[in-house]
Amino acid sequence: MFRATISGIGVEIPEARITNEELVASFNSWVDKENDKRAAVGEPPLKKSDQEFILHASGVRERHVLMLDGILDPERMAPRIPARDDSELSVMAEFGVKSAKRALDHAGLTGADIDMVICAASHHQRPYPAMGIEIQNALGIDGAAFDMALGCSSAAAGLHVAFNLVRTGAQRRVLVVTPEIITGHLNFRDRQTHFIFGDASTAMVIEGLDEDEQRPGRFEIVDTRSWTQFSNNIRTNFGFLLRAGQEDTAFIDMEGNMIKQVGNKVFKEVTVAGHKFIVGFLAEHGLTPHGIRRFWLHQANARMNAMILKLAFGHEVGQDRAPTVLERLGNTAAAGAIVAFKENHEDMKTGDYGLICAFGAGYSIGGALLRMM
Ligand code: COA
Repeated sequence: MFRATISGIGVEIPEARITNEELVASFNSWVDKENDKRAAVGEPPLKKSDQEFILHASGVRERHVLMLDGILDPERMAPRIPARDDSELSVMAEFGVKSAKRALDHAGLTGADIDMVICAASHHQRPYPAMGIEIQNALGIDGAAFDMALGCSSAAAGLHVAFNLVRTGAQRRVLVVTPEIITGHLNFRDRQTHFIFGDASTAMVIEGLDEDEQRPGRFEIVDTRSWTQFSNNIRTNFGFLLRAGQEDTAFIDMEGNMIKQVGNKVFKEVTVAGHKFIVGFLAEHGLTPHGIRRFWLHQANARMNAMILKLAFGHEVGQDRAPTVLERLGNTAAAGAIVAFKENHEDMKTGDYGLICAFGAGYSIGGALLRMM
């Protein structure tokens, strides 16, 4: 068995951002118009969204989006991302390549040094050719690539696979790329979910180490873990059979086929499962939460993370122990925990442990126990 490190991390955050105030104004203006139509036919009115509720319930203040155009327009409420010709680099691959280049620079490597690409994200632009292969091609990487999807645990699951490929010697250097364009599949007319998500792309280089090799400032991957249990509480029904399931195959109705979630059930069930996962995974390594210098948790909900940590520690822990980035980015699906990791590790000391732990649809949870070299 080989040892392995995360030798490079790259993050790409799009420039455009939307505050809660802007998002709620757009939503409520659509509700006003919709309610006029409903009143005319005697239907009950839709409820408005509220920025104070959003901040209190989720902790999110604003989110960055790949394409602002169209999202806040009450007539559209979806990003306008022009379709590209098949000969052009596709939107998702382009987003992934940006974070991948940063990860390669951080690792001091080029595409020629990588022998596998895993594109691990909650949504893929198309089934084939795999997004990973397009990213591989754009970066001039020899070897192989494939796609993986496991909701918000996708990056952690990609890391789990990459780590095991590297430690068995099957691959030398694996690039795990997570371009999350979740606004493309978000129903901005759904009061329950319209405020939750934002876009971000991350990448990590997982690299084998020689027997006694040390890389100061980098983390050795001690172990990774994955857990899943079926739940319908976060679900999308969008897929290739949608067309075949409808009477009128020329028209695909997106209503009901975007992200939906029973937020409060997810909150309760995943908080309990997340706590259990963390304590169990650490115990396998003779550790308790108190022995972990920093937690990089999934960035869905500030209250949820606080609760998981309170259960683990028996008391509240602050930003230094478990930093959040969701206030300014929203829930960036599988990218969130990796953004928190990238932005909050440079002060850590040799021997310090850190834990990446992501959770989400599936249900799924993925963890990586790291130790600073
Ligand atoms: N504006 C104003 N009020 C809203 C609202 C909005 N946008 N959305 C919901 N509400 C209302 C509800 O109608 C409900 O009102 P009622 O009690 O009068 O019926 C009330 O707020 C509470 O709704 P609830 O769904 O229980 O809210 P919550 O406190 O659970 O917060 C989430 C909602 C989505 C922020 C929260 O459940 C969450 O983050 N869950 C976990 C999500 C997650 O981790 N996903 C996994 C990864 S993707």
